[in-house]
Amino acid sequence: MAFDPLVEGSSPSRPSISSASRSRRVHSSQTGPHPRLEALVQRHRLSRWQGPIHPGSRAAFADFLAGYCCDRSLVLDSCCGTGVSSAQLGRLFPEADVVGIDQSRHRLARAPNQLPGNVRLFRARAQDFWRLLLAEKIRPELHFLLYPNPWPKPAQLGRRWHGHPVFPDLLRLGGRIELRSNWAIYTGEFSHAAHCCGVATSAMVSFSCIKPLSPFEKKYADSGHELFRLTVPAAPWSSKDSQRAPNPT
Ligand SMILES: C[S@@+](CC[C@H](N)C(=O)[O-])C[C@H]1O[C@@H](n2cnc3c(N)ncnc32)[C@H](O)[C@@H]1O
Repeated sequence: MAFDPLVEGSSPSRPSISSASRSRRVHSSQTGPHPRLEALVQRHRLSRWQGPIHPGSRAAFADFLAGYCCDRSLVLDSCCGTGVSSAQLGRLFPEADVVGIDQSRHRLARAPNQLPGNVRLFRARAQDFWRLLLAEKIRPELHFLLYPNPWPKPAQLGRRWHGHPVFPDLLRLGGRIELRSNWAIYTGEFSHAAHCCGVATSAMVSFSCIKPLSPFEKKYADSGHELFRLTVPAAPWSSKDSQRAPNPT
């Protein structure tokens, strides 16, 4: 499935709105990649994370499985917020099933009233849903990670997805990952962490939005933030990928 509704370039997205709705840029004392990133990723790479699966995530996954059709491509919108991006993805990929997951009941309660028929939203922790998909050998064709929380304090490195112990499983899950952020350091660290796990990413690029894909993308673009994206190409599925998949408890 091709996906490229963007104009790439070095120019920042153009501001177009009043200061009232302007959002603040990510502020961090970090001026470059975290000095402990590599050591942390290597540690996570060497030992499979066995953290417990939240019961709510397990229930959501059971619902997902009940409606899952393996004949259709799966597009995952992780940390989908209100599901506005999932709805857009559903319209962009009518031939696929689009699944949005977010842990916030509050955000999901504000989902669009009329979702396209190929879109389903679930309340679950992404780190659980990914491991459950992996254990079932279900691989998304495309995986969107749009504006994950940046956790900009250096002490919060372990909360960024690439610093989280689930990161090697996120890469094993595969599919073509599309990461977007308004913090260049986040995107650069993600790419470096993937590289530490032996996975090459595209170069990080700055891009301008023609049509924002998500509410945060719109908010940041409207506020004149520079937006960054990178992709992790889909690797061929290896039997090893699911072999060591946890039988999560
Ligand atoms: C900055 S918002 C971005 C929302 C949306 N992707 C967008 O671009 O508009 C980050 C979202 O990640 C969700 N989130 C954070 N940690 C999560 C986790 N562990 N599992 C699932 N969702 C999570 C939050 O609830 C929030 O909706």
